[in-house]
Amino acid sequence: MSDYFYITTPIYYVNDVPHLGHAYTTVAADVLARFRRLQGRDVHFLTGTDEHGEKVLRTAEAKGLDPKAWTDQIVPRWKEVWAALDISYDDFIRTTEERHEGPVQKFVQELYDRDEVYLGAYEGLYCVGCEGFKSPDDLVDGRCPLHPNRDIEHVKEDNYFFRLSKYAQPLLDLWEKEPWRVMPDARRNEVIGKVRQGLEDLSISRVSFDWGVPIPWDDKHVIYVWIDALQNYITAVGYGRDEEMFERIWPADVHLVGKDILWFHTVIWQAMLMALDLPLPKTVFAHGFLQVGGEKMSKSTLTGISPHDLIGTFGVDGYRYYFMRDISFGLDGEFSWEAMRERYNSDLANDFGNLASRVTSMIARYLEGVIPAAPTDDELTEAERRLREVYRDALAEMEVAADAVSPHEMSKAVWTFVRKANSYVEEVAPWKLAKDEAQKRRLEVVLYSLAESLRLLALVLTPFIPRATAELWTRLGQDGTPSERTLERDGGWNLLEPGTRIEVGAPLFPRIDDVV
Ligand code: MSP
Repeated sequence: MSDYFYITTPIYYVNDVPHLGHAYTTVAADVLARFRRLQGRDVHFLTGTDEHGEKVLRTAEAKGLDPKAWTDQIVPRWKEVWAALDISYDDFIRTTEERHEGPVQKFVQELYDRDEVYLGAYEGLYCVGCEGFKSPDDLVDGRCPLHPNRDIEHVKEDNYFFRLSKYAQPLLDLWEKEPWRVMPDARRNEVIGKVRQGLEDLSISRVSFDWGVPIPWDDKHVIYVWIDALQNYITAVGYGRDEEMFERIWPADVHLVGKDILWFHTVIWQAMLMALDLPLPKTVFAHGFLQVGGEKMSKSTLTGISPHDLIGTFGVDGYRYYFMRDISFGLDGEFSWEAMRERYNSDLANDFGNLASRVTSMIARYLEGVIPAAPTDDELTEAERRLREVYRDALAEMEVAADAVSPHEMSKAVWTFVRKANSYVEEVAPWKLAKDEAQKRRLEVVLYSLAESLRLLALVLTPFIPRATAELWTRLGQDGTPSERTLERDGGWNLLEPGTRIEVGAPLFPRIDDVV
């Protein structure tokens, strides 16, 4: 079993540039990855692009380009958005890379050699938007409910089939015994309900176009795009090319996916792995859809908003924090500019930003900007003990929420400490202590405790707001950035060196009064 914390996003279709829905999954994965790094784990965070299949092929054709030329041109646009959002991925895989295509062929060959794949005739319905085969029951008025603007296609060809049907019972047994493999519960129950009705064998090759990985023993066929794409999670970590790396990193701890692609990641992916006796991902977690005015956000419904639009107004940190804090991970959520401004002003500008300004200004004013001696245990009052307790509990809750793949609960947990630090300021009223020379040491104890609270917040908030926390870290006279640190080393009290000079600086989150 690997020691790594291996987390993945779906690999995105490169028929267009990213919208907020794609960025939602990726930011959530980044927050979880950064938090695991803080916990001292070896993290492997993978994202990438899904470049084969009809959807990408048709987009390229519409642009008058060869599909590879098109994907080469668009992939940098995805990487730009991830850079703009401070996404700290360790690897970015493209399904057109050799390190992926060769091992995919090897995997499929192995399925064939084990008689898990056979040649048959396929006749049925296909949605190019989903890149998925459909049964008439899946359609609403003859159209795919997720892609109502695309015509459903009628496909009739000789295809290779994977014996998916024989995995219905093994999958049900697995999820019964190890329910955490598919999360959240409600989504697992949906998948179980469908699997109980039985599974059909799955067509895994296509002959009507050639933009894909050829079937190794019959190159008239290309491998069905999902069978190719799902394997990115293993090819990126060495499957079929670097066994030592594969053993070290696989299985994934979490595959984060949207609810629309949970079926592929649970039923199809897990059955494929079972067929080759490979370890299964520990958890597949499906989040909900972001909506605007009640509709799923996507280019085809014309409500696509680019992440750049929002970063321009709220900054990277404002962007990341809002989506992670406002929307319960797992449920659908509604985006609005007003809610985003409200959340930014109340949490970032007021609660956290003001705390940072007040504390650093008071240290500048009352202690000439220098950190005093750390309090001894005897010098701590009930107020400081409670402050420490709230921090300890918030951190414990954050860890539980991270295990439950809940960035929303993680941010909520830290905020109990942000609020506590603010109420501590009111309670101990440093401005009153400053008026009384006899209270000099008490004032130092209070301001030291507050400076430590800021330092600890810079550390635990770094997964959500990496830029402001790095700035605060520097203002507190610390080296490097908090994202290079660990809770084990830096997450305790009394670690600020007495004599450290701190800076006040401009507001970390200036209030935003108007939005476009
Ligand atoms: N290429 C496949 C995934 C292959 S993974 C082996 C794919 N790509 S996608 O680009 O269409 O979508 C990728 C992810 O974006 C999915 O998890 C999907 O749920 C998510 N989102 C797309 N629109 C979304 C929203 N409006 N809201 C939240 N996430 C949504 O599917």
